[in-house]
Amino acid sequence: MSFENSGGFDRMWADLAAVGRDGTSGGYRRYAWTREDAVLREWFRGEASARGLEVVADRAGNLWAWAGDPDADGPGLVVGSHLDSVPDGGAFDGPLGVVSAFAALDRVDRAALRRPVGIACFADEEGARFGVACAGSRLLTGVLDPDRARALTDDDGTTMAEAMAAAGHHPGALGRDDEALRRVGTFLELHVEQGRALDAPVGVASAIWPHGRWRLDLRGRADHAGTTRLADRDDPMLRLAAAVLAARAAAERHGTVATVGKVRVRPNGVNAIPSEVTAWLDARGPAEDAVRAVVADVGTAAGAPPVEESWTASTDFDPGLRDRLATLLDAPVLPTGAGHDAGILSAAGVPTAMLFVRNPTGVSHSPAEHAEEADCRAGVAALARAIEALA
Ligand code: GLV
Ligand code: MN
Ligand code: MN
Repeated sequence: MSFENSGGFDRMWADLAAVGRDGTSGGYRRYAWTREDAVLREWFRGEASARGLEVVADRAGNLWAWAGDPDADGPGLVVGSHLDSVPDGGAFDGPLGVVSAFAALDRVDRAALRRPVGIACFADEEGARFGVACAGSRLLTGVLDPDRARALTDDDGTTMAEAMAAAGHHPGALGRDDEALRRVGTFLELHVEQGRALDAPVGVASAIWPHGRWRLDLRGRADHAGTTRLADRDDPMLRLAAAVLAARAAAERHGTVATVGKVRVRPNGVNAIPSEVTAWLDARGPAEDAVRAVVADVGTAAGAPPVEESWTASTDFDPGLRDRLATLLDAPVLPTGAGHDAGILSAAGVPTAMLFVRNPTGVSHSPAEHAEEADCRAGVAALARAIEALA
């Protein structure tokens, strides 16, 4: 992207372009507490320090770069997002909000601000490595139990505690962080829109659909693929197949969406009947009871109760902020099926709003995710106006 007069957006975007990019898919693999994550966090600290902002990490490892003193003169306005990604994610989901935050702050007259402004970089928003989405903001607000978080494992069996410690963050510190939360008077997250729903450069979020993740643990009996009669098999893959089809049918019936996007098979041999299949269901929709009904139907089809790994209730953003921003920016208001740290902070009682930047195809969580340069520029300008109005 090349843009002028946008506070170094171009240079920042170029800085991040290669970090964690997979040469084959072209997508990003930026997982929490990895080497790539460390590079991104260091980049964030560098951008903050180049602007004279003081960076503090909270107990969960989320980073906050402050212009002004939020303890003495706060609470402040915080803008920002996350830098981690899903497997083979796009360039925009997360980084657009962080880069735009720095670029927007560069456009405002800081001397004219009435309260401190912070830029946040949330840790582990996607939950791609340890399974729980928005782990950093859930830990910050106390809705993710620290013992549970520390014990979460990645696909190699590394615990979150081990990964954090290896990255230099003390896992013993995890727990609700009232000191960090007290500093946040208002939170505003800019994000690429992800649902083919925005037909203007910039929009304002109204709500996040209720959504969650469930694990299906399906056990069977390993056996020989050539010598075991069909009648003698206990094959958990068949129950997974039924569950996947049931998820689609139930989602259609109940007016929701449902996805099985991750599967682990043991022993994972072509010529062995699996002993164990683990699969993850992501279900979301406009109504909580409909989402719950889908999950129940999937459990029935699988013959095993789905284990809830995370749940986010329906989230309505602060109506006053939403209306104020929609008027200020003359922007449409729309809901989303995507989860965000903004939703977690909002549920914790922080007055919160989101700005969306148009995504012409709507494709996201994919290397093909895209936003036009002009729309990103409009996003930075909108965020700068919002900072001026709210701080
Ligand atoms: C986060 O991007 C989510 O909605 O899964
Ligand atoms: Mn995402
Ligand atoms: Mn995101």
